[in-house]
Amino acid sequence: MKVTIVGAGNVGSTCADAIAFKRIASEVVLLDIKEKFAEGKALDMTQTSSLLGFNTKIVGSTNDYAKTAGSDVVVITSGIPRKPGMTREELIGVNAGIVKTVTSNILEHSPDSIIVIVSNPMDTMTYLTLKETGLPKNRIIGMGGALDSARFRTYLSLALNKPSNDIHAMVIGGHGDTTMIPLTRLASYNGLKISDLLQESELSKVAADTMVGGKTLTGMLGTSAWYAPGAAVSSLVQSIACNHMKIFPCSALLN
Ligand code: NAI
Repeated sequence: MKVTIVGAGNVGSTCADAIAFKRIASEVVLLDIKEKFAEGKALDMTQTSSLLGFNTKIVGSTNDYAKTAGSDVVVITSGIPRKPGMTREELIGVNAGIVKTVTSNILEHSPDSIIVIVSNPMDTMTYLTLKETGLPKNRIIGMGGALDSARFRTYLSLALNKPSNDIHAMVIGGHGDTTMIPLTRLASYNGLKISDLLQESELSKVAADTMVGGKTLTGMLGTSAWYAPGAAVSSLVQSIACNHMKIFPCSALLN
């Protein structure tokens, strides 16, 4: 299994790190336009392999798509992230051009790859990629719901004081502060309905915090978050690579 990640910035490199650490792929290629940046990240990560115990080959590339050839899954994280006070939609002007160019380069070298879109505004970028490439709908997947659901589970876990791994909960809808739909009624803790365990006001607060989860972190960090986004992408890639048949809320075309 070969996975390419375009954009070796915060989200891309965290995702590459998680994929290598979890031994999801035999090879991970990180590509960026910044000279030697992806190579540096790849070398640094490779130097963790004997410490963390993985053998994944990690390759860095400065805009050389030949190195990405034959990838099974390609993750697109290239583009600018939002700054405090910005909406994801405001990134469209810059990121649309980047995503278009990157996808066309990718498909030249990996015509059969499954493409996972992360760059924001993610839902729009996913649709744009689908339209531009004309690929079948099951080969273009937008990642947002996996992250939003992880945030929802975290806030539920904090409110309940129970481990997030024992909580099942999902966010559907768009990957935007006002378009997300945390499914509060269906959330459960070890089979128990969370709506029976929390007050309605507590559950509403959890839902509201989830919807602005990205904005809250951007305000604290001065840029978009990366640990949970990178981990969310790695879970999605793992499910595709290992055919786990898991259910993830994603951005995908429905007929
Ligand atoms: P970042 O600025 O740390 O990294 C972006 C990288 O893309 C930079 O290293 C830059 O050099 C590279 N890049 C720019 N143009 C390129 C091109 N044409 N080819 C190859 N590389 C190129 O940004 P970060 O924080 O990693 O975020 C990346 C994107 O992911 C942003 O658009 C952000 O809004 C989005 N995002 C999406 C999430 C989601 O759930 N869908 C969650 C978090 C971030």
